[in-house]
Amino acid sequence: MTRIRHLVSVDDLSIPEILEVFERAKHFGENLRSFAHLCPGRIAASLFYEPSTRTRLSFESAMQRLGGGVLTAAEMKTSSAAKGESLADTVRVVSGAYADLIVLRHPSEGAARLAAQFSSVPVINAGDGSHEHPTQTLCDLYTLWLEKGELEGLEVVLVGDLRYSRTIHSFAFALARFGANIVCVPARGLEMPDYVLRRLREEYGAEPVRADASSLRDLAPESDAVYLTPSKPHQLSLFTDGSAAKVEHVDAVYMTRPQTERHGVGDSIESYVRLGNAQMSAAPLRDAIVMHPLPRRDEIADEFDDDPRSLYFKQAARGVPIRMAILGLLLGQIELDARPPEVDERLVRIEIGANPCPNPNCVTHTEKRHSRLGFRLMSRDPLRAACGYCSHEIPIALVGSSKTRHFHSRDSAVARKIRPDELIFFRDEAEAVALGFSASGA
Ligand code: CP
Repeated sequence: MTRIRHLVSVDDLSIPEILEVFERAKHFGENLRSFAHLCPGRIAASLFYEPSTRTRLSFESAMQRLGGGVLTAAEMKTSSAAKGESLADTVRVVSGAYADLIVLRHPSEGAARLAAQFSSVPVINAGDGSHEHPTQTLCDLYTLWLEKGELEGLEVVLVGDLRYSRTIHSFAFALARFGANIVCVPARGLEMPDYVLRRLREEYGAEPVRADASSLRDLAPESDAVYLTPSKPHQLSLFTDGSAAKVEHVDAVYMTRPQTERHGVGDSIESYVRLGNAQMSAAPLRDAIVMHPLPRRDEIADEFDDDPRSLYFKQAARGVPIRMAILGLLLGQIELDARPPEVDERLVRIEIGANPCPNPNCVTHTEKRHSRLGFRLMSRDPLRAACGYCSHEIPIALVGSSKTRHFHSRDSAVARKIRPDELIFFRDEAEAVALGFSASGA
């Protein structure tokens, strides 16, 4: 049986596949009206539990331009979700005979991963909480690629709400994979989350380096910048000695709005970073294009819209050909020469005492009955694991073996020898004992 292909994370596409998707999108973009023969009779369902203009409409436009049809649940309050129907059940129903593909936006992190487990058709993540937004990232990378001709070695400044912006997280992972340099200029208190920095460092080889942001001071008057360089050698990875790296040239500035709908108590936007003609006259930014996933509030002044470096409306338009290519690929109507990514061997199912995800916005808390993926083993020494849905690290104190029913300290030699498929993690001894485990040698 052919495995169903989903797009939950941008990591679900290999780098050669992404580049081939760009070539397809370029071809589609040359005449959007010429491809209605590709997906006739196919139906995409939009399940949007959060508002959207660009993502939903560009997916629906893309599907119709491919000759297919769309079912829209743009306002899930009018669906049976309002009666308490779970996401898992909704997906099982819609993927029954209703649709050939699901595009899902949901406020819970990891929702698309969960939906993919229950769907009998491909699921595309159209944004899950603050976690990821892979098709936006494809539009962003595509714009950079078209405008700059390549991605490796580019200097990209990420500005604003780096904490809650899912577009930033997916984009940063992808930039690191492609070997671009990332300069983070967060609004105060809205810095990149630890779990994202950790993944950038451990999974994508991007090394955080402090930067001398003096040349960006106007852009971010009260922010420190953090400079991330890919570990593979190229010119800027020379600045890895912990001393200040000077940002002398910027290829792109990626602005984001404050994601106030996800802000908690204490999150403030008083010192939010704004950009206009004056900031963009700084020497390092002379050739920089300005991108924004939109919608914007006032973080980019309207006066800048006429500047040829403002790319955000083109970026939004490019969502259509990019999504045509993705829909065609997942529906099996487009074949790529490139191979998909290897399955990540670190993804293992690990039993755990209780729902341990420390992220209150993780889908495991709202879909308790249905979350069953387990956890991703991040490292064996020390033993560390991340939630298989939202990617947040799971706090572990003790490790048990499902075979011996003994528990051990996480850092002990015996814990490191337990087979991954026999691992059970506990937050504390009380949890281990309550689940029928005893101390080793007890
Ligand atoms: N960029 C983006 O996701 O926009 P929408 O929220 O309008 O879909």
